[in-house]
Amino acid sequence: MEIELRHICASNEKFQRKDTLNMPSLPKIRLVSIAGSFNRPSKTAALVQNIARLVCDSYDFHHSFYDLADVGASLGVASRRQDLDPSAARIFEAIVAADLLIVGSPTFKGSYPGLFKHLIDLLDPHELKSKPVIIAATGGGERHALMVEHQLRPLFGFFMAHTLPTAVYASDRDFTDYQVSSGQLASRINSVVSELAAFSPGGSRSICAETEA
Ligand SMILES: Cc1cc2nc3c(=O)[nH]c(=O)nc-3n(C[C@H](O)[C@H](O)[C@H](O)COP(=O)(O)O)c2cc1C
Repeated sequence: MEIELRHICASNEKFQRKDTLNMPSLPKIRLVSIAGSFNRPSKTAALVQNIARLVCDSYDFHHSFYDLADVGASLGVASRRQDLDPSAARIFEAIVAADLLIVGSPTFKGSYPGLFKHLIDLLDPHELKSKPVIIAATGGGERHALMVEHQLRPLFGFFMAHTLPTAVYASDRDFTDYQVSSGQLASRINSVVSELAAFSPGGSRSICAETEA
């Protein structure tokens, strides 16, 4: 299930890369979002796609989304990247080539699931170095909300990635029919989207003030 979102933000031209002085246009920033769940439907996928949609509403990025079902069965038996089947290997290539990642995981026993960790384990430490990463997680309740800070952030710290300051955690009650329905959560997502301005060639972002709850 690969979703290609190509949002040109006509209403927000300030944040688009412009082709001035007849300069050739720059390639778009590649945003890859990952949901560490194999469920469909999935709250983690809904959360990650919601974040990605808001990012693409504000910045002119090229977006690809993958979940663990996209990665497929070869992940579970691969101890090296060469063991992956070609479609899974292409997803790893996309992750490594991405300029920016959104990584969401469900919470299992207070942490991320083993299969999600195995996907991350097959990346080389240098492959995420300095990459901006928005971290997000879902859980059944609020009790493990700090999973994003205590589990996901250190995981990407190992890779010396740039995790964005705001991490997003959502529980069951933030969703209705697998769609983000909580205003508080939307506001938190908006915060992390605005933090991305530091990594965007378009510079600072003002739309946040208009949309904040
Ligand atoms: C094996 C298992 C363990 C879980 N452990 C926790 C947990 O420790 N804390 C929590 O808040 N939710 C826990 N949950 C609930 C899931 O994190 C939650 O339903 C999540 O949103 C599922 O994501 P998905 O819809 O993307 O698959 C667990 C679910 C399963 C299946």
